[in-house]
Amino acid sequence: MKRDPIVTAKDLSRTFFLGGQPVKAIDNITLEVEAGEFLVLKGKSGSGKSTLLSLIAGLDRATSGTLKVSGMDLKQLNPVQLARFRQKQIGMIFQSFNLLPTLSVLENIALPALLAGVESQHAYKKARELLQLAQLEHRANHNPSEISGGEMQRTAIARALINDPALIMADEPTGNLDTKTGDRILNFIKNLNRTSGRTVIMATHSTDADAMAHRILCLKDGRII
Ligand SMILES: Nc1ncnc2c1ncn2[C@@H]1O[C@H](COP(=O)(O)OP(=O)(O)O)[C@@H](O)[C@H]1O
Ligand SMILES: [Mg+2]
Repeated sequence: MKRDPIVTAKDLSRTFFLGGQPVKAIDNITLEVEAGEFLVLKGKSGSGKSTLLSLIAGLDRATSGTLKVSGMDLKQLNPVQLARFRQKQIGMIFQSFNLLPTLSVLENIALPALLAGVESQHAYKKARELLQLAQLEHRANHNPSEISGGEMQRTAIARALINDPALIMADEPTGNLDTKTGDRILNFIKNLNRTSGRTVIMATHSTDADAMAHRILCLKDGRII
């Protein structure tokens, strides 16, 4: 039997108002993402990639339409439930890494688990495992300002994994990295998809991601073309 899709969007729209003028950042998108799929979103700057990722991640709310992620209708969730949904279901990776500058690499990785109420000893045990997976053992006690861009992104990926999310969402994860470092990051994300069956939705300009994608969708003016 076919499994339910992990993401089901129907007639999804998100309209922003700029100086009283509506901007349809997402314009009536209908989309299903299968569990275990590696989906790449393409499209020019301003085409709606980040907005779509934010909606699916529960960071933003749709103006209209329905959106089900991991069996939950996001519109029905109150803010507390939505925060919990994000914590448990979504691992988010950004172009700018978004690490906390005063925490060490290890502490950055452990933080989402601690915030989710995981007992400290367990959180740090898991963080150390992820530190190893990301090949960052030698950076455990460094602050983000003391490590390279590639190491920062590997820290961010490890952090995204600590609560064992079903969905990894990556928004231009290689945008601030040189090609070689970017390729290493893409391969890391690909391996997460292939070895643990984690669903990945990634917005990227990099053509190097094309070969690893199960499907590529192109956005234009908030629509899939
Ligand atoms: N918070 C916001 N307020 C107003 N307009 C926004 C906001 N976020 C995005 N937009 C607009 O929505 C459109 C899509 O933006 P975005 O999703 O960031 O595209 P992309 O990630 O593909 O570059 C753009 O026209 C952008 O200006
Ligand atoms: Mg964007």
